[in-house]
Amino acid sequence: MTVPDGAACDDAPRAFTTVFGGNPDGTWCAPGRVNLIGEHVDYAGGVCLPMAIPQVTAAAVRRRIDGRLRMYSMGFDVVDVALGDRVDGWAAYVAGVVWALDPPDFHGADIVIASEVPVGAGLSSSAALEASVALALAGLCGLPVDDDGRNVLARACMRAENDYVGAPTGGMDQQIALRGRAGHALLLDCADGHVEHIPVDTAAAGLTVLVVDTGTGHRLVDGRYGSRRAAVEDAARLLGSPLREVDSVSALDDPILRRRARHVVTEIERVHTAADALRSGRVHDLGPLLDASHRSLRDDFEVSCAELDSAVDAATAAGALGARMVGGGFGGSAIALCENDDVPRIEASVTAAAEAGGFPSPVFLRATPSRSAHRC
Ligand code: GLA
Repeated sequence: MTVPDGAACDDAPRAFTTVFGGNPDGTWCAPGRVNLIGEHVDYAGGVCLPMAIPQVTAAAVRRRIDGRLRMYSMGFDVVDVALGDRVDGWAAYVAGVVWALDPPDFHGADIVIASEVPVGAGLSSSAALEASVALALAGLCGLPVDDDGRNVLARACMRAENDYVGAPTGGMDQQIALRGRAGHALLLDCADGHVEHIPVDTAAAGLTVLVVDTGTGHRLVDGRYGSRRAAVEDAARLLGSPLREVDSVSALDDPILRRRARHVVTEIERVHTAADALRSGRVHDLGPLLDASHRSLRDDFEVSCAELDSAVDAATAAGALGARMVGGGFGGSAIALCENDDVPRIEASVTAAAEAGGFPSPVFLRATPSRSAHRC
């Protein structure tokens, strides 16, 4: 990926002047993410360990007083609606945040979006968009932006995605986009929003978190994500307790529900083990945990796909310490934990495997833990 860090922060105000004339009141940005471990546990009230990546989405915003919302994203037409009107497509993520946050003394805005976060790559481009708009509205309307304030903003972004856009996601992506810290992963307790920032010094360990974007689009509104969430909720109902409090899933008769629940229970355990390893600086120890997470997502939760399995298997065969799919699944990206010197060989092996499988040529990024949403 050759997108220069910070390009979106320059592009958004520049495009603003071209499209709407004059200058924005300000520009705010928010990052995409990779999740080190803790996949499909957020909506079960589990714990996860995401980190923000350097690529951001930027929102250049100017307040209006006439009750209109004009939105422009590079490559699309201007969407011009009255505040409160329903919109579809990419603009729903913007209008949804305005709707969910309902900021005080807000009477419309011109908003221009520019993004470096690859769309459909499982790197949370939608949460980056929502979080950039939420922080912009907070900045313009005087809402608190300390950690508690950011938790409130993240929850509003999640409501926008769940209730306005219609994607039944669990909130991890919005939380990391707004509450992450450079050089750290975010141990997020999704039950109560409590966070711990855990240092991830890959450079000191001589390691790289390599992101493989398989180029296979993934979507969170096509029903498959929702069916996994429903299975997790059914399992908890049948067991009579939230899965984060469950030790054994053997009481579940239905073999599919049992496997779904087993993924959640074992994945939460892996997150705790990974957090312990990082707290004591043992970054290498993440490797086997990533492998186990991928097997669980592939076999028990069944959200992987041929392209992701190919990337993970090829990375591991070429010497990655561990690898797994990240995000919602059914396409999108994988991560591989690699010794720095091995990165070229692992990239070549993953590319060759994709070619042999007839899959799109993968795109590689390096995930250094980056800062969360901020004013550009
Ligand atoms: C998507 C969702 C998140 C989370 C992950 C899977 O990224 O937006 O809420 O459920 O999938 O861990």
